[in-house]
Amino acid sequence: MYSPRGTFIVALMSFFGLGSALNIRSITYYDPTAGGGSMLDNAGDGYGEPLNVIISGLSFPDVLTDDGILNYARAIGFSTECLRIHSGNPQSADLGDGNGYVNQTVEFREDYGSVDAGTCLESVIGGNHFRIYRQNGPLANSGALFLAVSKEEPATDNHHIVPDGYDIGRDELVSWGVGQTSYGDVSYSTTAQNITGLLAPGSAGVNHDISQDGIVTLLTVTII
Ligand SMILES: *[C@@H]1O[C@H](CO)[C@@H](O)[C@H](O)[C@H]1NC(C)=O
Ligand SMILES: *[C@@H]1O[C@H](CO)[C@@H](O)[C@H](O)[C@H]1NC(C)=O
Repeated sequence: MYSPRGTFIVALMSFFGLGSALNIRSITYYDPTAGGGSMLDNAGDGYGEPLNVIISGLSFPDVLTDDGILNYARAIGFSTECLRIHSGNPQSADLGDGNGYVNQTVEFREDYGSVDAGTCLESVIGGNHFRIYRQNGPLANSGALFLAVSKEEPATDNHHIVPDGYDIGRDELVSWGVGQTSYGDVSYSTTAQNITGLLAPGSAGVNHDISQDGIVTLLTVTII
């Protein structure tokens, strides 16, 4: 994670005023717990959802913006929530970057092949969804996006997570993302790497008492 050479280059670039202009990043992510944060978000009920996917800060900077991640989400089978009506309260996360607990930036749902109507279907029949948190505070400004991914039951079940729904949601999202994808006129190439030792396996503190395997998948997304 820590790259002395990258840090040096960025220091050099910010000296010449280039870093912020080009928005160049040099780090995949910072471990939230190192800065007093957590790899579980805060679901508001004393428990949290695991942050089980990270979109690396080394991804193309465009991908890490609000518009960029929306386009990428569409490329891999998700879209914004049904009619932008959000069901349920926002959750928050502390990514150890000095910002403390911050509400999710946005939430995306599986779109069942239709960017416009599909997420409404997801709201009714259940499916995959994720919340996004951006690590951009002054103490750990990686620009990485931390995702809480889970697979839900249909709305009749009040959006509960399916058994094993965190691991299933993560693996599903990763399988949809890896390789080449595109949406609009943007094409992406995505690689994945599993990280252990960042998120504790098990169900301690995990919302709905669903055990998960502790694997966090790091995605690096390149625009091609
Ligand atoms: C998150 O949003 C809710 C609802 O808008 C608000 O009440 C709450 O204070 C926010 N929490 C944080 C940490 O900003
Ligand atoms: C990551 O771990 C999951 C769950 O064990 C596995 O299915 C997947 O193939 C792994 N991915 C990589 C890139 O190693």
